[in-house]
Amino acid sequence: MSETNGSLVLEVSGLRSGYHGVNVLKDIDLEVGNEVFSVLGANGAGKTTLLGTLARLIPLTAGAITFQGEDVTHIPAFETAARGMGYVPQERGVFPELTVLENLLVGGMIGERSAYERMREVFDLFPDLEALQGQLAGTLSGGESRMVACARALMQDPVLLLLDEPTAGLSPLYVDMFFEKIDEIHQTRGVSIILAEQNATKALEVADRVMVLSLGEAFAVMDAAELTTEKLKEGYRI
Ligand SMILES: Nc1ncnc2c1ncn2[C@@H]1O[C@H](COP(=O)(O)OP(=O)(O)OP(=O)(O)O)[C@@H](O)[C@H]1O
Ligand SMILES: [Mg+2]
Repeated sequence: MSETNGSLVLEVSGLRSGYHGVNVLKDIDLEVGNEVFSVLGANGAGKTTLLGTLARLIPLTAGAITFQGEDVTHIPAFETAARGMGYVPQERGVFPELTVLENLLVGGMIGERSAYERMREVFDLFPDLEALQGQLAGTLSGGESRMVACARALMQDPVLLLLDEPTAGLSPLYVDMFFEKIDEIHQTRGVSIILAEQNATKALEVADRVMVLSLGEAFAVMDAAELTTEKLKEGYRI
């Protein structure tokens, strides 16, 4: 889609954040509606910093974040999930000492609907998880672990899902499966998704719009279909 569908889920303006007083993100403006919005960029471009800042885990030094029409710039990280923001970090997305089932139930602690009903839905989406219910999450394979992290976030009934390189390091079949799931989560559940990715080809297949981050700056924001290889390379500085 070319516009953000009228009702914005997330609005970000003039966002700056980083580490130890050094800004990584420089004046990021962003508007996300009910869509799959992909954030592309080279290693170190600031994708994880952006998602972590949106999830309020990294303090911002300037700018404002509005989520579902409410100013969330200064809310603590623990409030974001209850407000409808699901976050799947690039690493450590599961509680390793808990079983798969317990991980899912942690996600299910938020919201009104029965955890059982939601668990049925995530098992429909990721059927492989049903057989793994009793296994300690710390003993799962990389792909299984990513599924649990994603399923745990979905158990929160999110309005917006922040996915940080969900398929990094996975085998090609897993990658294809995961991108189909991302599409399904958006299409059938109406969840808005911000997807940080290295895999530009796959990301552009599912994304409506895309931002190319380059050294912490929004080098380009456009419809996914309009992003050319030349533009992408320029943004990746290659
Ligand atoms: N905890 C930290 N302390 C200091 N600097 C950090 C920290 N985390 C990230 N950085 C720096 O911030 C910049 C952006 O890193 P970030 O992790 O956001 O990039 P990325 O786009 O997610 O990269 P990748 O594709 O490798 O995951 C990098 O220069 C990185 O070295
Ligand atoms: Mg990253």
